[in-house]
Amino acid sequence: MPSRSVVSSAFALAALFTAYAASAQSIEYRPDAKLWVIQAGNFTYAMGVDERNWLQSLYWGPRIDRAGDIRAAHSLPERAAFDLPSTTTPQEYAAWGAGLYTEPDLKAIFAGGNRDVVLEYVDQHQTHDSNSQTLDITMRDIKQPVVVHLFYRVYTGQSVLERWSTIENQTKEDLVLEDAASATWSLPNLENRNYRAHWLTGRWAGEWQLQSASLEVGSQVIESRRGSTGNQANPWFALEGPDAADEEHGPVYFGELGWSGSWRITMEQSSFHQVRITGGYNPFDFGYRLAPGESLTTPPFYGGFTDGGMGEASRILHRFQQGVIIPGAPHPKLRPVLYNSWEATEFNVSESGQLALAEKAVQLGVERFVIDDGWFGQRKDDHAGLGDWYVNKEKFPNGLKPVIDRVHQLGMDFGIWVEPEMVNPDSDLYRKHPEWAINFPGRPRTEGRNQLLLNLARPDVMEYTYRWLDDLVSNNDINFLKWDYNRNWAEPGWDAVPVADQKKIYVAYVNNLYAILDRLRAKHPKLEIESCSGGGGRVDLGILRRTEEVWPSDNTDALDRLSIQDGFTHAYAPGVMMAWVTDAPHRKTPLKFRFLVAMEGSLAIGANLNNFTPEDMSTAKDLVAFYKTVRPTVQQGLQYRLIAPSRPAAPSERAATEYVSADGARAVVFAYLHSQNFGDPYPLIRLEGLDPKALYRLRPLDPNQLRSPQEAGGSYWMHHGLQFDLRGDYDSTAVVLERQ
Ligand code: DGJ
Repeated sequence: MPSRSVVSSAFALAALFTAYAASAQSIEYRPDAKLWVIQAGNFTYAMGVDERNWLQSLYWGPRIDRAGDIRAAHSLPERAAFDLPSTTTPQEYAAWGAGLYTEPDLKAIFAGGNRDVVLEYVDQHQTHDSNSQTLDITMRDIKQPVVVHLFYRVYTGQSVLERWSTIENQTKEDLVLEDAASATWSLPNLENRNYRAHWLTGRWAGEWQLQSASLEVGSQVIESRRGSTGNQANPWFALEGPDAADEEHGPVYFGELGWSGSWRITMEQSSFHQVRITGGYNPFDFGYRLAPGESLTTPPFYGGFTDGGMGEASRILHRFQQGVIIPGAPHPKLRPVLYNSWEATEFNVSESGQLALAEKAVQLGVERFVIDDGWFGQRKDDHAGLGDWYVNKEKFPNGLKPVIDRVHQLGMDFGIWVEPEMVNPDSDLYRKHPEWAINFPGRPRTEGRNQLLLNLARPDVMEYTYRWLDDLVSNNDINFLKWDYNRNWAEPGWDAVPVADQKKIYVAYVNNLYAILDRLRAKHPKLEIESCSGGGGRVDLGILRRTEEVWPSDNTDALDRLSIQDGFTHAYAPGVMMAWVTDAPHRKTPLKFRFLVAMEGSLAIGANLNNFTPEDMSTAKDLVAFYKTVRPTVQQGLQYRLIAPSRPAAPSERAATEYVSADGARAVVFAYLHSQNFGDPYPLIRLEGLDPKALYRLRPLDPNQLRSPQEAGGSYWMHHGLQFDLRGDYDSTAVVLERQ
């Protein structure tokens, strides 16, 4: 038998090789063939200029090591009078012109009435910094100086390609953009066999439902017209190749947008079976006037490819978010265990009530205490107070200081809820500045949850919002903001600017939101922020560049959460996903079940601790302590969805997930049984991602729920499997595997 050190070094070499492959990023220009080959870790992407001077997609798929094998682009002839080359050519960025019938990336109106744009290649240049390389390809309309820059960026150690565009008006007159996408991704045409599309839909308290269907000829559109990302769909897609085998095997093309405003992704299959994914700003109600010399930059659209199934596609995104996107990347901090009383007390917060909860929370091992809605203005319920960000003296007669000081004395840090973009008509702010609300003058102002939106696109509103937030954080020892946003837009008017610019609200609002967050973070580098929008209504890679964590849903029922979390982690890392243990609002589930479900993200407690029995306190304390031992593995490791919980297309009575630390030294498995039918025994669970030759010892949460040897090799756990003994309803368990 080989010695442990030989085995481990073999595994280390394999790991190193994988890391090397994933770290091989480059952008190569071949001037002879006028083409670019982008090596983005485990995949290759290529495009080239054809005889018409159009930029064509040439390849997207498994890595091709010899760039020279990829051949130059050639113009396609007319297929028929009804199918012109603009439509049949897989253009990298198709402007609406020359008879384009597929989804355009760009549609514009010139001052003189022309609406035809045809882009040709001009030149390219590349830049790089310590961890990324960027290609800028310049395109220009065949007649007028409308210039489009197409950007491509690869990051060291990441298998993700970032694409975006900038459109410049170099004419002497105004130009209005009616559609400005970030990028189009073309997939290989695999004869008549269809890709399987996956996307995420939802609603308030029911987000992250994984939809899956064959992508037939026609289009599948996912979008938000709401002004923000939305609970109803998320800007993520995945297309499984026809020969995809299972969760861990087979080709998957995937991508997501980094934009927190209205967006659209169109997955289309043309009548020639060409599959194209176009995404960016939502063209619905879009109209962006560019004065001479002005430009518009579109949101980043990130894409990737893997042969490792939907599981690896998710892990690539998780790794990318941890390594590049979220604050603190490539070494983001671990999320603390948090307590928040919203579900326990709602608006009924007070100094004594919060302090009583804080004293209990700390006994459980909680590290951050958060006061939610209700602490400010005349906020007794959701009818009043939003906009008046002074401490409510009836609830906190001595201000926030005594609570914050005591929370710190107890050894926790302190966070507070804010909803900076909203105003109740019953507020001092609205009485003073009714013109700050988004509306069309003289038209109704439709309320949602009795509130209106402040127009952050206005520079005065942006400045005011930044100032009070800065004051709040400067004058109080606040470590964390839960930034909420509890409705979508209606009547999106902005009458303070000329009519021709009013639709810019869709872009300006979000850019100003980002500017406030960026400024606040720069001034308060220790401040952490959570993005919440009545649950998971604002989760995307734009907001995640500025917030450490997100709230996936207001639905905290543990069973529903299993499917919510399953959908969420297809697109986003478990480490950014807040997960509360609450008082089981919809159905009674055991405390342990609720804890284990919440441990699969950033664990928090939202239950009313005043109602916890001594036994509950002791169970909770033990489970928090257990979580802390697996927290780095869950939050920053590699996630494997071993048994999927219920999905819209496939009900399930079981669920199991595994997390493996990046070095393969530790894994943790969570397993659930929702309801046992016919007394069926729990099936064997085959693990993933372990070092096959290393020895792993088990550390079960409850030894009585395990029927496996105490230690065995990685290949045993991966091929034979783990045997749990779960029974009845809402049974659950967890086990840690430690490499010896
Ligand atoms: C919606 C959030 O999702 C909840 O967690 C809570 O903060 C409420 N808003 C407060 O109004």
